[in-house]
Amino acid sequence: MSKSRESRLEELQDLEPSLEEFRLEVIQGLSQSQKTLPCKFLYDRRGSEIFDRICDLPEYYPTRTELHILQRHAGDIAASLGPEVRLVEFGSGAGTKIRLLLTALDRPAAYLPVDISRDHLVAANADLARSFPDLSIAPVCADYTEPFALPELAGARYRTTAGFFPGSTIGNFTRAEAVGFLSAARNLLGDGAVMVVGVDLVKDLDVLLAAYDDKAGVTAAFNLNLLRRINRELAGSFDLSHFRHEARWNAELERIEMHLVSLRDQEVAVGTRRFRFREGETIHTESSHKYRLDGFHELAREAGFDPIEVWTDERKLFSVHALRARQETTPS
Ligand code: AVI
Repeated sequence: MSKSRESRLEELQDLEPSLEEFRLEVIQGLSQSQKTLPCKFLYDRRGSEIFDRICDLPEYYPTRTELHILQRHAGDIAASLGPEVRLVEFGSGAGTKIRLLLTALDRPAAYLPVDISRDHLVAANADLARSFPDLSIAPVCADYTEPFALPELAGARYRTTAGFFPGSTIGNFTRAEAVGFLSAARNLLGDGAVMVVGVDLVKDLDVLLAAYDDKAGVTAAFNLNLLRRINRELAGSFDLSHFRHEARWNAELERIEMHLVSLRDQEVAVGTRRFRFREGETIHTESSHKYRLDGFHELAREAGFDPIEVWTDERKLFSVHALRARQETTPS
């Protein structure tokens, strides 16, 4: 990507995970007694496209509801971030939400989207650069669950740094991982930085299960696409018709789990490795934790943030939190 003075779209910083990392994590996950595959690998080009379709499904309430909250409270949220902000978005997605926030912000100085999918990042940000010609945009292709540094922005003058983590992607981490992620984000953004986080809430089981097992089978296609990706990129031999998608509620951990259920006893190759499946055995591909407001506040405090405000919809389906990074106290 070339640097353009007009749009101020900076060179992409590329830390996309390698094929070797993918192979190692797949083999490690399939070697466990409860087979697992990391959900971050659901988002190849096709997976990202299917996910965009999920966001428009009638059953999938989180995207719509969060957008509604952001639309309704954009002014308040922007005020909590302040003027001339350098905004880091973790997982940049389709870009609708950031447009809303950037439009409401007072002279935003820079936008740093961090995303694991390079294709998605490039397409979304070229569009954004056209809409916000005065904004410095510096895309970073990285797995934001691993440490990374923010790129230097030549010429961008900002007063504060803020984080934006919408979509309840935080729900795809275990609680311990969520604390770890927020602590790392806190250190990356610095003392006093505000972090805006979208968090899905515990609700009726029927609503939850329908959202993760829609009638049109789009979520099933999203889940099964991971096997297709392994076949293509890692010389796998998964027969997709020998697995089916299942969404389960784990009541103890208050999370929806996506599984791929083996429909028969079978053996599958990934490169030179072979894995045996019993009929009914599953691969756990994703967890989507649902929170209660006080439970999420407690988690944020553990990670070094103080909750400053929370916005929800009328039905209390979803929440958007503003958190402030607590001042680090150095022992004297
Ligand atoms: C990206 N993430 C917040 C979605 C979720 O709801 O956990 C991923 C998803 N999985 C199935 N449907 C949507």
